Amino acid sequence: MGTVTAPRSELSEEFRQMLEVLSEGSVHIHFDPYEDIDWTVATDPADPRWVLDPENDPLGAHPWYQAQPLDRRVEIGRVRFMNVIRTGAVFETLLVRSMMHYVTTLENFDPQFRYCLHEMTEECNHIQMFQELVNSVGDDVQGPHRHLRRALPIISLLFGYMPTLFMITVLAGEEPIDHYQKAVIRADGDAPDLVRRAVQIHIAEEARHISFADAWLRHTLPRQNALKRFGVSLWFPIVMRMGALEIIVPPYREMARVGVPKDVYIEAFLTGRTGRRLMAGYFNDMRRLVSETGLINPVSQRLWQRLGIWGEPSRYRGEPDRRAVLRD
Ligand SMILES: [Fe+2]
Ligand SMILES: [Fe+2]
Repeated sequence: MGTVTAPRSELSEEFRQMLEVLSEGSVHIHFDPYEDIDWTVATDPADPRWVLDPENDPLGAHPWYQAQPLDRRVEIGRVRFMNVIRTGAVFETLLVRSMMHYVTTLENFDPQFRYCLHEMTEECNHIQMFQELVNSVGDDVQGPHRHLRRALPIISLLFGYMPTLFMITVLAGEEPIDHYQKAVIRADGDAPDLVRRAVQIHIAEEARHISFADAWLRHTLPRQNALKRFGVSLWFPIVMRMGALEIIVPPYREMARVGVPKDVYIEAFLTGRTGRRLMAGYFNDMRRLVSETGLINPVSQRLWQRLGIWGEPSRYRGEPDRRAVLRD
């Protein structure tokens, strides 16, 4: 009988090592939403720690919100925050669906297969954890905009054919969630205990997911032809901006349910200075990624600027936001 040999892999040694580190990390540091969180602990809906942080949340910074009595700030803050959580859970279902398409394109012996399965397992845990959190807090939040929910099956199908766009979208969703959640547990006002625990677990595991998408793009982009790279350079900021809008800006109907006036909603989330500063600040590490992979050209840079997410790149991963540029 002849010998069947493994095909020569096209993966770089650096990428292989990264996959090894990430996969081992998934085995040794992971969480279970039912073993690691005590869901019997009730969350108080009137807990003052639901009040939105003016530094971290565009609505929290708005004078109208700050002028409301405490019980109203708590109610609005709780519904706003839980809507981000529900949106995050829905986004992660998209991620799992799309990544399952991606792994079916991989050949035998490819170490990405193992890592992607670890990541999907973790995302399934996050989806359960976030849904338990929503159920436990008790507000019937709807999560993302209706148009996105309707389009999810089609988007995941398209991503099955467009892995580069998929990996960019992963970062467009995970970077804003990561920034928002880190700020929640760093903030002075803190957060209710159950929220804090879920957010800590999520941040710990998301670091791997962000590293994978980042490393995948650093590995793949230089191997693409110039025309494709130019196309990606234009898509990149558009996808970032769309991802952040979906994750951070709640649908107006959700805010209307708790009495937020439309002009306050528009000013807080879309036109106000704090909202724009936070939006640009979510992408410091992404600006570093595009700078280091040659995706900045005069046209793409202009697009980043027009979309309000330009600024200097971070100097290292996770550098706090000091460098976003605001257009007046
Ligand atoms: Fe996640
Ligand atoms: Fe993730």
